[in-house]
Amino acid sequence: MDKFVIKGGVPLEGEVQLSGAKNASLPIMAASLLTDGKCIIQGVPDVTDVKTMARILEFLGAKISFEKDRVEISPPKRPHFEAPYEFVKKMRASYYVLGPLIAKFKKARVSLPGGCAIGTRPVDLHLKGLQELGCNIDIVHGYIEASCQKLRGKHIYLAGPKGSSVGATINVMSAATLSSDTTVIEGAACEPEVVDCANFLKCMGAKIDDAGSPLIKIKGVKRLKGCSYRIIPDRIEAGTFAFAAAATNGDVKIKGGRVEHLQSVLDKLKEAGVKIKRIPGGIRVSSGRAKTPINISVAPYPGFPTDLQAQAMAMLTKVKGISIVTETIFENRFMQVPELIRLGADISIEGNSAIIKGKKRLEGAPVMASDLRASAALVIAGLIANGETSVSRIYHLDRGYESLEKKLGNLGAKIERVAE
Ligand code: EPZ
Repeated sequence: MDKFVIKGGVPLEGEVQLSGAKNASLPIMAASLLTDGKCIIQGVPDVTDVKTMARILEFLGAKISFEKDRVEISPPKRPHFEAPYEFVKKMRASYYVLGPLIAKFKKARVSLPGGCAIGTRPVDLHLKGLQELGCNIDIVHGYIEASCQKLRGKHIYLAGPKGSSVGATINVMSAATLSSDTTVIEGAACEPEVVDCANFLKCMGAKIDDAGSPLIKIKGVKRLKGCSYRIIPDRIEAGTFAFAAAATNGDVKIKGGRVEHLQSVLDKLKEAGVKIKRIPGGIRVSSGRAKTPINISVAPYPGFPTDLQAQAMAMLTKVKGISIVTETIFENRFMQVPELIRLGADISIEGNSAIIKGKKRLEGAPVMASDLRASAALVIAGLIANGETSVSRIYHLDRGYESLEKKLGNLGAKIERVAE
């Protein structure tokens, strides 16, 4: 296993180019199963989750070839229908093959994903939506066994107790593209990754209206064709670099960053006293460490993303005053807190809120990554701690960040990857 060794205290300066969005790449790669034609997808990040999705698609019979950030997928004519536990336990997003397999081949056997570090992560809404479309679903020995004659369009309310579901919206939307009649998904997730997947499906010939709104309409078509598509830049990577720049009192141009995908985040950074500027082809985060304590409560898009809650918290550990970060979406997404406390942060947890009392100094120490975004928070904290911080188990980071240490190093950070 590798670890990062970081020497803190260097303001990040310069320019960083974002990679493509992991959370758009995964569903879009899976959706290629819906066509017989070849799909060429560009802007795919070089992260382990994408490689895992490629292995699943190959296991299902697809032919896949990568060339830098470009992947070519020729889907199977007669696929293997099973996404086994050994794949799904590595990456929950394997469930994205469920909707396309059902729609195209009328059957699928996908392992239930189980929980992960941040929560129980149920898939009941995915299954509810597919059943509403006419799919028979049984759970047998930990597997989702799904079959159908023909999917029929339906008006489906898909939000759950925590609001809209990105995964369920995408799975049902993908499946509905090949159903008869029209499907309306009410309570749909509005994330940019949902819109990107809808745009990919439309590029294949699907008829989808109002993706990005809570009411998505899908008019079923007989078949979809192969297409060539470019993934949107990763807004969570953009936010991660924005918080790193603000935390280190730096000046960073985030190339590829789209202001329209980050309004709630940039709004909070401005409230904290950080200077944000739209520049040609990106966003500039500059002029001064965050000065003012803020309160953040995560919410489904366009609210503040849960995937940036930990990174914001890392920045707030050195902002004078009391800040409060509230996690409303996942039940266990404060795994970074005990590790930040090891670096000297003053954080207490009350229910689903973390109360952060800004400190003048953090002291470098060995810390351990636990999940993808908590790990990014530890890296940011290491950049602003005095002395040396080592972040172990960075395989968590490699799942969703492409060459993070290289990108940070190019901005002046003293960070290196070391085999543990
Ligand atoms: C996606 O997960 C992202 N993952 C997550 O990013 C992100 O945190 C999440 O959306 C919320 O934005 C990918 O896109 C691969 P949800 P997803 O369904 O689709 C509950 C990262 O760090 N729920 O929107 O699994 C669920 O428990 C990852 O890149 C149900 O109750 O999230 C949660 O409380 C982490 N039943 C809420 O809905 C369901 O069937 C939102 O989950 C599905 C979800």
